[in-house]
Amino acid sequence: KELFLGIDIGGTKTSVSLGSSDGVILAKNMFATSNDPQEVIEEICIASIQVMKANKVSAGGISCGGPLDAEQGLILSPPNLPSWDKIPICSILSSRLGIPFFLENDANACALAEWYWGNGRGTQNMVFLTFGTGFGAGLILNGRLYRGTNGQAGEIGHIRSDESGPFCYGKNGSFESFCSGTGISLLFEQNFRTAKTAKEICALADSGDVFALTVVRESASHLGLALSLLIDLLNPEKIIIGSIYQRNEKLFNSIANTIIDNEALELNRQCCKIVPSALAEQLGDLAALGIAKDHWRTHA
Ligand code: BGC
Ligand code: NA
Repeated sequence: KELFLGIDIGGTKTSVSLGSSDGVILAKNMFATSNDPQEVIEEICIASIQVMKANKVSAGGISCGGPLDAEQGLILSPPNLPSWDKIPICSILSSRLGIPFFLENDANACALAEWYWGNGRGTQNMVFLTFGTGFGAGLILNGRLYRGTNGQAGEIGHIRSDESGPFCYGKNGSFESFCSGTGISLLFEQNFRTAKTAKEICALADSGDVFALTVVRESASHLGLALSLLIDLLNPEKIIIGSIYQRNEKLFNSIANTIIDNEALELNRQCCKIVPSALAEQLGDLAALGIAKDHWRTHA
């Protein structure tokens, strides 16, 4: 069994894990993501040495929000890491730790994890959608990760849905501004002049709060449209939904499904299952490991 190192760089925390090619996490270390990329790199090196111990590790995968240049191994300037700018993370870590490193967009990495070890196993065409700070998609098409011309495929979150929506990453009313956790929170503030987190809004909606319900309904209707676009454009067998929407599964699903029924072609929606992520709290770590496994498998 090959061993891999997985590094999941998020806006608030970074996780470093050691795992095997069959998706078992053997050791893990976490720390708060500082604003200073140099500091984060130092902490990654320390944590990596701690989790790797004396094991022979084949490669490392790094998962991070876009925009990034996967081919060059460069983190550009993701909205969740504002002070990062063209950091050549793969070459720095490779020379410090002595193993090859590969970088992918976080949503792409989650798609790989679900495809190798989760609800996407055995599919040829699937989409993974993530809704944390941002809203992004990872695409497995014809049995492999689809990266696009410069690795930016799947950035559905920045497509505008309706310009009345909140402002996110350069524009008003993108799918991200309606459907991500950040977006749901901004939408609530725009409508009711009160700040609440997406988690709080979902809990309020569950208890029947009319204000929260209005926001959740609006968000889910945009999600339904985004899903319909993906279903008709890509004709996937599965769309796997991560994080926030699972907190209010029934409500989101019923609204989103209504939109899908009205928007997507019948033949396409009938063969597409929309399912939750199977990997729960392990998703981020497995995503980073999935990158290493995928590159190792295709380069070896
Ligand atoms: C970024 C994507 C990322 C998504 C989820 C979006 O804002 O543009 O690259 O996958 O957030 O983190
Ligand atoms: Na993507």
